[in-house]
Amino acid sequence: MLPDPVLSTLLPRPPAISAAEYRHRRDALMAQLPDNAAVVLPGAGLMTRSRDSEFAFRQNSDFYYLTGIREPDALLVLLPGRAEGQSVVFCQDRDPTMEAWTGRRLGAAGVVVEHGIDQAFENADRDERLPELLAGRELLYLPLDSAEALIIAEDALADAQAGLRRGRPPLKGWLDISPLIHAMRLIKSEAEIALLRHAALISAHAHRRAMQASRPGLGEFQLQAELEHEFVWQGASGPAYSTIVGSGANACVLHYIENSAPLCEDGLVLIDAGAEFDLYAGDITRTFPVAGRFSDAQRALYQVVLEAQERAVNAVQPGATLTDIHQQVVTDLTAGLIKLGLLEGDVQARVDDNSYKRFYLHSTSHWLGLDVHDVGTYKLDEQTPRPLAVGMVLTVEPGLYIPVDDDIPKAYRGIGIRIEDNVVVTRHGHEVLTADVPKQIVEIEALMAKK
Ligand code: GLY
Ligand code: MN
Ligand code: MN
Repeated sequence: MLPDPVLSTLLPRPPAISAAEYRHRRDALMAQLPDNAAVVLPGAGLMTRSRDSEFAFRQNSDFYYLTGIREPDALLVLLPGRAEGQSVVFCQDRDPTMEAWTGRRLGAAGVVVEHGIDQAFENADRDERLPELLAGRELLYLPLDSAEALIIAEDALADAQAGLRRGRPPLKGWLDISPLIHAMRLIKSEAEIALLRHAALISAHAHRRAMQASRPGLGEFQLQAELEHEFVWQGASGPAYSTIVGSGANACVLHYIENSAPLCEDGLVLIDAGAEFDLYAGDITRTFPVAGRFSDAQRALYQVVLEAQERAVNAVQPGATLTDIHQQVVTDLTAGLIKLGLLEGDVQARVDDNSYKRFYLHSTSHWLGLDVHDVGTYKLDEQTPRPLAVGMVLTVEPGLYIPVDDDIPKAYRGIGIRIEDNVVVTRHGHEVLTADVPKQIVEIEALMAKK
């Protein structure tokens, strides 16, 4: 039987991350903690959208990284060395009435069986069980930006002060758990890279779809619809961040998300959009002519960005730094701007006096993972940029944004261009996850001609 032409476009999904990998992460985190410490990490709750309706639930990325649990109102407690189990989760109560409205809940048994957590209790038992679990722990690790975690810590302190009278060791205080988790999240496992590869592939397909749909007469929002249709059709939860479709001078607004204007007939359109799959983000930008053919000025400026971007991608390898890669991009863009007459004088002088910032004011890269601007520090200390290492995933996204000002040659006014790929650092250099959407001028024009 011939394959169904529609179903055969469904991209094969990578496997979900195993309960064993989540356990391994929890063990690796606990191995870094001093004796007699505990971790308290709340998951996300539901957020009101309007009146009694809520935004679609999105789990807290750190909580998800350590548990794989996607229910609201859960709490992870890690208790290194505890004989009855080192990982404990408090979760939503089973509740037939609520489950009739919003679907099945894991309950304590589901958390243990399906997620490999050592012990679980429902939230109704929290007030009784949590103080007992934390009693006698001398140091708590929690996300300091979580009001809920801080309340738990303050309650534990009050309990410990009462407990002192019963001869229990005192709670000495609390520290931020986030830097330890974020350092782990900076290096992606094979399973995580497979999910990122899939998010990137879905995103690439969506960009191809938008390129082929583009034509004068449509609105920016209609290209947004093409992209987001493809995301959801492929099983992504939706966009990993607000989709940007900026045509003409809207492309110069870095976080333009209105997407409400008609596509500019003779202009370029910049699309920055990525799918979220299994909570992992894709993050692709492509810029192309609305009507399918670059003008000479668009072509010239695009080629400057493209060459800087390709050189930057090729520089990604273990030991390289984002600072050096950005510096090279700045130099290449500045040289291009001088060649096109948008800046004057010597390349290094225009870099040193920051003139290029009129046209390029963001950085070239950020980490990519569960969060689109993923966690992990960019420096080892104040001075030292972090060298890239195998398993890191980053974006490479130079751009040029030319204002509509009078002193700019007319043909270049109001052109915004960014080209963004997602790149994994590998032992031998790098892998580009987003190669399935064209960025060469001839390839873009050829794809767009195939309506
Ligand atoms: N889409 C946001 C970014 O590229 O960083
Ligand atoms: Mn982006
Ligand atoms: Mn980005």
